[in-house]
Amino acid sequence: MKFPRMSIEAEAPEQLGYERIRSNLTESSVRDRSLRELAVDLSDLPLAYTDHMGHPGLRELVATEAGATAADVMLAAGASSALFMTAMALLEPGDHVIVARPNYATNIETPRILRCRVDLLDLEFERGFALDPGRVRALLRPDTKLVSVTAPHNPTGVAPTLECLRELADITATTGARLLVDETYRDLCFAEPLPMAATLGEHVIGVSSMSKAYGIPGIRLGWVMARDPALMNQLLCVKEQIGICGSVIDEAIGYHAYAARAQWLPENRRHLQAQFERVRRWVQEEPLLEWVEPGGGCVCFPRIRADAGIDTARFYRCLNEEHGTYVGPGHWFEQPDRYFRIGYGWPTADELELGLAAISQALRA
Ligand SMILES: Cc1ncc(COP(=O)(O)O)c(C=O)c1O
Repeated sequence: MKFPRMSIEAEAPEQLGYERIRSNLTESSVRDRSLRELAVDLSDLPLAYTDHMGHPGLRELVATEAGATAADVMLAAGASSALFMTAMALLEPGDHVIVARPNYATNIETPRILRCRVDLLDLEFERGFALDPGRVRALLRPDTKLVSVTAPHNPTGVAPTLECLRELADITATTGARLLVDETYRDLCFAEPLPMAATLGEHVIGVSSMSKAYGIPGIRLGWVMARDPALMNQLLCVKEQIGICGSVIDEAIGYHAYAARAQWLPENRRHLQAQFERVRRWVQEEPLLEWVEPGGGCVCFPRIRADAGIDTARFYRCLNEEHGTYVGPGHWFEQPDRYFRIGYGWPTADELELGLAAISQALRA
């Protein structure tokens, strides 16, 4: 089994060096917070191995929201690790898998690495990047092991309706396939958040983390939630192979941050709403771009109009080198580079303003 390096990670801003970036529009999260802001005192925390499933109090908190129990939640080192462990627990070479594209790269790469037969469910700009249950039905086979979607979606920010998710859950239930919903951006829905995926059926798996809405990706804390004891046991087997248990420090901080979510999330939403309005005005006034307006998350995925005659390589060179502004180019998501992702939750209002102006200038360079 060989692991290729994913360009979204190889070209990530932390790999490039933050000091080279004036306006960072690559991030898909709210601004990072410091330990001081969280005001958590860990001085007396015993640095011991911890519960292999993860901090029981945090698992209980996460589960309660879904009317589940702590036994239905396993903590992992971020949603990325949760996705990897889910794939390792469920999939074998040759298994048939349906995965939405574009997507956060791990969702597509891990089944490929495991040599599954991957059918890509291509989400198209012209169809509003919408998940179409009819197309899932058409791709589904009696032996399909897994259908994998992301809601709200990265990189487009498009949020499926509850009816759509329910339909996917019903369709997969008919053949015995599992439905995996990467709900890492769920807490950043503009409207009422979608229900946690694991509430949609025992064959539905939800994956999420504290990286995006809580602004603490550096503690590497996410989870898998499913109301299926056999799957949870399989996941535990995988996790123990990788690292026995999670980091007791990360889990203590995560517990503290999750317990304060009622305070943080509304604040984040207000910030995101203001930033989103700014981006929306800018796109409306920028004739060289078009987009599908997002319904959640903190990212959008505009594209350069096909008839604009823009040399995309020159656009990125100018944007990066002359303006110190970075966005997520289309190839991070297996899309042409005339698409790019803008993360508008992480920058300050001034940085966002600077970055949007830089994009307009680089398009005309
Ligand atoms: C949809 C989605 N899932 C999972 C992840 C992984 O995030 P983390 O491992 O920090 O929780 C990301 C990160 O960008 C993402 O966008």
